[in-house]
Amino acid sequence: MTFSARRHCPVRLAGLAFALAAAAACAPASALDIQLPQETATLHPGTGPGAQSAALCLMCHSVDYLSSQPPMPLGFWDAEVKKMVGTYGAPIPADQVPLIVQYLNQAYPPPQPAASAKP
Ligand code: HEC
Repeated sequence: MTFSARRHCPVRLAGLAFALAAAAACAPASALDIQLPQETATLHPGTGPGAQSAALCLMCHSVDYLSSQPPMPLGFWDAEVKKMVGTYGAPIPADQVPLIVQYLNQAYPPPQPAASAKP
């Protein structure tokens, strides 16, 4: 009988040992009780019907996703809402999209132009 160096490769043995240890560690799953902190942040105040509809934005993530954005150029919220609907499948009715964009442009406005330098 011949011994081959490949058959006794320490990496393979380590892999087998890991697999056996992992299998032994598999205990039946038990329920885990996780208490999340209450969300205290809210949407910026705004007027118009989009201000109410923007609550739809909070079904997947916290409002912090919106309020942590720095002032973004005009067009950002339009693209963002379309991305949430088109890419992430946000179930927001099509007629609400422009209203929400209008609210976001007002409540999370683009950067103000720098005051013109006076001589
Ligand atoms: C269907 C679930 C869902 C809904 C509803 C939703 N989002 Fe999101 N949103 C996501 C996911 C997923 C991400 C990416 C999370 C990540 O990358 O960690 C995200 C990220 C964001 C971000 C961070 C920047 C970015 O593009 O990743 C912003 C801002 C945002 N969403 C705004 C909104 C607004 C405004 C609405 C309402 C029009 C909305 N979201 C509704 C799923 C959703």
